Amino acid sequence: MIRLLSKQGIQTRAILTKAAEEFVTPLSVASLTGEKVFTELFDLTDEAEMGHIQLSRSADLVVVAPATADLMAKMATGQANDLATTALLATDKPVMIAPAMNVRMWNHPATQRNLKQLLEDGVQVVGPDDGDMACGEFGPGRLAEPDEIAEKILGFFSRKIEKTGPLKGRKIVVTAGPTHEPIDPVRYIANHSSGKQGYAIAEALRDLGADVTLVSGPTRLSEPEGVSVIQVEAAKDMLQATRQALPADVVICAAAVADWRVENGSDQKIKKKEGQLPALTLTENPDILATVSQKGEARPDLVIGFAAETQNIIENGKAKLAKKGCDWIIANDVSPETGTFGGDENSVIVLSSDGEDHWPKLSKKEVAISLALKIQDYFKGRN
Ligand code: CTP
Repeated sequence: MIRLLSKQGIQTRAILTKAAEEFVTPLSVASLTGEKVFTELFDLTDEAEMGHIQLSRSADLVVVAPATADLMAKMATGQANDLATTALLATDKPVMIAPAMNVRMWNHPATQRNLKQLLEDGVQVVGPDDGDMACGEFGPGRLAEPDEIAEKILGFFSRKIEKTGPLKGRKIVVTAGPTHEPIDPVRYIANHSSGKQGYAIAEALRDLGADVTLVSGPTRLSEPEGVSVIQVEAAKDMLQATRQALPADVVICAAAVADWRVENGSDQKIKKKEGQLPALTLTENPDILATVSQKGEARPDLVIGFAAETQNIIENGKAKLAKKGCDWIIANDVSPETGTFGGDENSVIVLSSDGEDHWPKLSKKEVAISLALKIQDYFKGRN
């Protein structure tokens, strides 16, 4: 986070708590901030150089990252028994916290009470994110990603992260998640896609500087910072939103688009009738990947699809590459025993006119980063 901020021309001065010193040394932090790191409340040299009151006011914004349950409790009750909490109590500047703790600690009524108090006191909060935690549990409590915190800090100063990176200037559209095909206003047909792979791809491309539009079906994921997100429900809305996002250099169709929609859906809730079952007629949905892949002036340079298969992965993947007319197919095994659908890992084979590229089993984030780097390679040497 310090590195990201300093790249954007923001100067950081750090206070380390005793707990923080268990994870990082003052020296390593000082090498990032380029400034002395403050640790002790009653250090005479520190106090002579810059008293804790002056320290608390020397910045434009005070950020607590990570904010533990303990520190939040201290802030909420105004305790000041070390340098960090003293500076927080003495400051006349805005304060932002990025909480990080075990999911049960985060959900505990005491922490939630403290959070409410801090929000009432005008403290800004970023995160926590949902995810796997060091303690092996899953849920809200994970520290927001450094770029998310940096983005919020820059946003506070009404600035946006200036895009830099090898994909700077490249416009990339990513589709992600499932689609919901309505039966009536309260019912729909859906699938198990979580959207995680598509979201991770959007984030990895953003991190390489690309200008990313994410067309997302309904998911439980939070919208990534620094990406334009368009939320849609049904396949036909996804096609429309994708078309509107064109022209683009690259389109990646990672969504699990429903193949069929209900043709004889109802505008009103379908009521139960004794002895009668509603007969739903299905009709085919537009194929977004095939539509975007069609030859023409506006065709993106690179169109990438996924092939979710449960058998004959390579054969079916190659058939899809030919049928849809895209440039690369990321083929993956989604049979239930692999846990790919909704899970965090993926083993993929990249198919293209160059042949087959087998990747090892990777987390969805790693697949996303590898794909983003492969796209970067593709554009190397091109205008
Ligand atoms: N796709 C799409 N629009 C559709 C269906 C699929 O854009 N209406 C895209 C998906 O995003 C994916 C690729 O096509 O990139 C292949 O999706 P997949 O579900 O594996 O294949 P289908 O074309 O649906 O074929 P099948 O279900 O018969 O395997």
